[in-house]
Amino acid sequence: MKPVQESMESFLSVASQAARSAGALIRENWRQAKQVHYKSAINLVTTIDRRAEEMIVGLLLKNFPGHSVLAEEETSISGSEGGYRWIIDPLDGTTNFVHAYPQFGVSIGLEQAGEIILGVVYDPLREEEFTAVKGQGARLNGQPVHTTEVAELNKALLATGFPYDHRENPDYYLRYFRAFMVRAQGIRRAGAAALDLCYLACGRIDGFWELKLHPWDTAAGSLIVREAGGTVTDFAGKPFSILGEETLASNGLIHAEMLDALKLMGV
Ligand code: IPD
Ligand code: CA
Ligand code: CA
Repeated sequence: MKPVQESMESFLSVASQAARSAGALIRENWRQAKQVHYKSAINLVTTIDRRAEEMIVGLLLKNFPGHSVLAEEETSISGSEGGYRWIIDPLDGTTNFVHAYPQFGVSIGLEQAGEIILGVVYDPLREEEFTAVKGQGARLNGQPVHTTEVAELNKALLATGFPYDHRENPDYYLRYFRAFMVRAQGIRRAGAAALDLCYLACGRIDGFWELKLHPWDTAAGSLIVREAGGTVTDFAGKPFSILGEETLASNGLIHAEMLDALKLMGV
């Protein structure tokens, strides 16, 4: 196969194809027994995570051979062309996948010269594909989506997650949980950060926070939130970076209140 002509359309179409192929593999295997390996006590990886990554990276590089790649299951390729880097979580929500809890997805972001310009997150069970191209809005299965109009934290539904060192530092993470628990209407912990961000983008939740996420968890989702009209920062309100330790995302309207809640707990 010849490499395709580079354009935003071709990037989006190939990323979508890659997410859907990996998603199909995940869907075929989610009820089967898994071969589980331990990266640490509670950080799991399965053969499906690795096969999904191979499929995605293979397809992207077949089409865009000069691009760089950073993917969770250890693919790191330094390409030569145009400053493009694909940032991939082949299976976000691995603990859910291992337990056959139906909340996981594939996340593919494209960065150029340090800026995320495209994101695709695919939920293979619900067949929901969230996409965004910088400056062109966010979409769910092709239809434009927007963050909510909820303007008070008091009326907001939030989501969060915990990093894999939560057994070692439970009180640290629970302080954040408490700060929002006493202020929000409800909190969900569904177990797939990329989907949490997309749920914010399409109006199913109003805000999200998490510590110690990795670039592959947030690259696509953070762009999808912003393109849906939302705000993403660190916990002090400074610009969000996929390399940073803090992710605070919201519909924009409750962002100041979320920042205040963090300030009041002395973060
Ligand atoms: C994890 C999930 C989870 C979040 C963790 C992530 P993984 O990703 O997104 O929701 O709380 O911090 O590491 O390991 O399933 O790809
Ligand atoms: Ca992840
Ligand atoms: Ca993963």
